[in-house]
Amino acid sequence: MPFLSISELRQHVGQAVSVRGWVVTTRSSGKIAFLVLRDGSGNVQAVFPKNEVAEGAWERFATLTHEACVTVTGLVREDARQVGGCELTASDVVVTAPSVDYPITPKEHGTAFLFEHRHLWLRTKKQVAIARVRNEVEHAISDFFYDRGFIRVDTPILTGSIGEQAGELFATEYFDLGQAYLAQTGQLYGEAAAAAHGKIYCFGPTFRAEKSKTRRHLTEFWMCEPEVAFNDSDDNMRLQEEFVSYLVARALEHCGAELKELERDTAPLEKVVVPFPRISYTEAIGRLQAAGSDVQWGADLGADDETALAQAFDRPVFVMNYPKAIKAFYMKENADDARTVLCNDCLAPEGYGEIIGGSQREDSYDKLLARIEAQGLDPKSYGWYLDLRKYGGFVHSGFGLGLERTVAWICGIPHIRETIAFPRQIHRLYP
Ligand code: 4AD
Ligand code: MG
Repeated sequence: MPFLSISELRQHVGQAVSVRGWVVTTRSSGKIAFLVLRDGSGNVQAVFPKNEVAEGAWERFATLTHEACVTVTGLVREDARQVGGCELTASDVVVTAPSVDYPITPKEHGTAFLFEHRHLWLRTKKQVAIARVRNEVEHAISDFFYDRGFIRVDTPILTGSIGEQAGELFATEYFDLGQAYLAQTGQLYGEAAAAAHGKIYCFGPTFRAEKSKTRRHLTEFWMCEPEVAFNDSDDNMRLQEEFVSYLVARALEHCGAELKELERDTAPLEKVVVPFPRISYTEAIGRLQAAGSDVQWGADLGADDETALAQAFDRPVFVMNYPKAIKAFYMKENADDARTVLCNDCLAPEGYGEIIGGSQREDSYDKLLARIEAQGLDPKSYGWYLDLRKYGGFVHSGFGLGLERTVAWICGIPHIRETIAFPRQIHRLYP
């Protein structure tokens, strides 16, 4: 008897098959019993007619418990009313491994309990749907750049030069060489690779020892960072809007069932098409003040400010040219207003806030060195990075898209911690 995945059953109507999976629910009415089985590829209902099943099968059915691992043998029958369009008329069930007192029950559990049991919680429908949307977005990221001739470059996780805020680093002793840091970004290495290949991206885990407990922060998250030679800040935003609208379109195209499971209203996602509106930081401050906020020019925008700004638009909005003092050392000074830099954040609608940070990079050796020194960073660690301005310096720009924030937005779930299999937060390292 061939073992089939549940998703393959549809092509085997009328055949006797075996399926392996985990018990979702059981019910019995005395003469006939029902088992819903899942195997990761889908769910199927198996029907056990008491008088027709193999010897002992009826008794074995009675011992089935939630999440026991079983093998069911039966005949595939077409049934349009069932998920997957078919069901099994079962002739036998064998318990391969029991599951006693499975901790996650149909009753409501608190969030803390569910995260303590994340290794099991992953099996539930909603969590499976989120993971599938994430998987689609990851594939779409790879397709988008591959189709446009970008080279994927995998940048190091252990680094000797600080990429973003010095105060948010995970450090570790590195043999005789002093401190190594877990990468906050792959960007600086991406810049070196852009001079080798022209258009590159890196995509991997990044780390921030931020003491933020918000619904938008993890200590370990995945970031996709393209870097493009000869792109200026405007080109950079054009690439971002194409990219973000492509990711959303792919999720809409391929994850209809998942978004439905998540009860996501897809109407706002359908509106995510190019071009995205652009406002300057200075204009953003003006808008916030006009709406009654006491935020002053020079301050960074908080989550509430971002939500308020994004509310005025039906698609993501770019906020450009922030004050130099609140942005990273590598951003290029704005020739039109030296208080600001040529950068942008991309704010998602519906209160999801910043999903992308990007900028044109400082290509002047002297200005970059001055910025490194002004931020108290050690120029010796940046010799290689400064070299990029010494040997054929070039206009270039790039950005970083946070995968978890993007997936949370597409899924319409409030907190990014459910978008990664095993979230790392300041108070969570288990499981
Ligand atoms: O704005 P950030 O810090 O930019 C950079 O790291 C640049 N080096 C990117 C570049 O230009 N190549 O981070 C980029 C994005 C944010 O917009 C956000 O989506 C995500 O990374 N992000 C986080 N996601 C989850 N948890 C955190 N603690 C995050 N910090 C940033
Ligand atoms: Mg940022």
